Amino acid sequence: MTAQIIDGKALAEELRQGFKARVEALTAKGHKPGLVVILVGADPASEVYVRNKVNGCLAIGMHSEKVTYDATVDQATVLDKIAELNADPNIHGILVQLPLPKHFDEEKVLEAIAADKDVDGFHAENVGALAQGNPRFIPCTPYGVMKMFEKGNVDLTGKEAVVIGRSNIVGKPMALLLINAGATVTVCNSRTQDLKFHTRRADILVAAVGKPKFVTGDMVKPGAVVIDVGINRLPDGKLCGDVDYADCLEVAGQITPVPGGVGPMTITMLLANTIEAAERKAALAD
Ligand code: GUN
Repeated sequence: MTAQIIDGKALAEELRQGFKARVEALTAKGHKPGLVVILVGADPASEVYVRNKVNGCLAIGMHSEKVTYDATVDQATVLDKIAELNADPNIHGILVQLPLPKHFDEEKVLEAIAADKDVDGFHAENVGALAQGNPRFIPCTPYGVMKMFEKGNVDLTGKEAVVIGRSNIVGKPMALLLINAGATVTVCNSRTQDLKFHTRRADILVAAVGKPKFVTGDMVKPGAVVIDVGINRLPDGKLCGDVDYADCLEVAGQITPVPGGVGPMTITMLLANTIEAAERKAALAD
């Protein structure tokens, strides 16, 4: 059996088209959604992500700007900028691209962002709301994965879901969303003993471990839904996920490709969160 492919690129485009009317309506009422992305340093991958985030906003009529700092900037300067943006009525979303240079206290920087502008969903208040099953902002990558389940009519209730990866950006919020949706959730990592024992039981398998082709076909339950969150660059320059796609394609029931799977959905859900932030602000102003 060859798996059905979940096309993240097509779903992302469909959703973004749908956002345009919401952006127009907000703009007409004087609440044009605005996102600021802060980039510290010149990591090439982060530069690409930040450019795509800003361009994604502009393409659907939102306001967006990038604020860049040299890697040697002191934390106080970035905190001052965040305070200024927190107070700016034209800015609805603030995102600090991670990772930050070593001399930064990442948690302190993320906590400095006003919770109602935290479109990444990384502020402790928003993480707590998600854990309690009452989310305000859902972290963009796992939010995108949930939209893919919705599109693929994947029923999560009572299913065995295994997440490989325990990061604050993907693994943990993904696990919380699956728990909230009624799945039976196991969170593994690259050092889990007998990982295959867990993954072979999974009806839903999410790989967010950051290791190229880590999940092979023999680790997958026949018919499972396999979601690949990884974006790894191989020595030959090609992109590949955490899943050995060719190997798993013949075993899985549904699978996401890399590129063109989860990647385009992440920025799409960032746009969704920023529009949502602007809609909440507009509702308060009415
Ligand atoms: N670095 C990698 N993924 C992300 C993300 O979703 N948000 C931010 N802010 N930084 C990241």
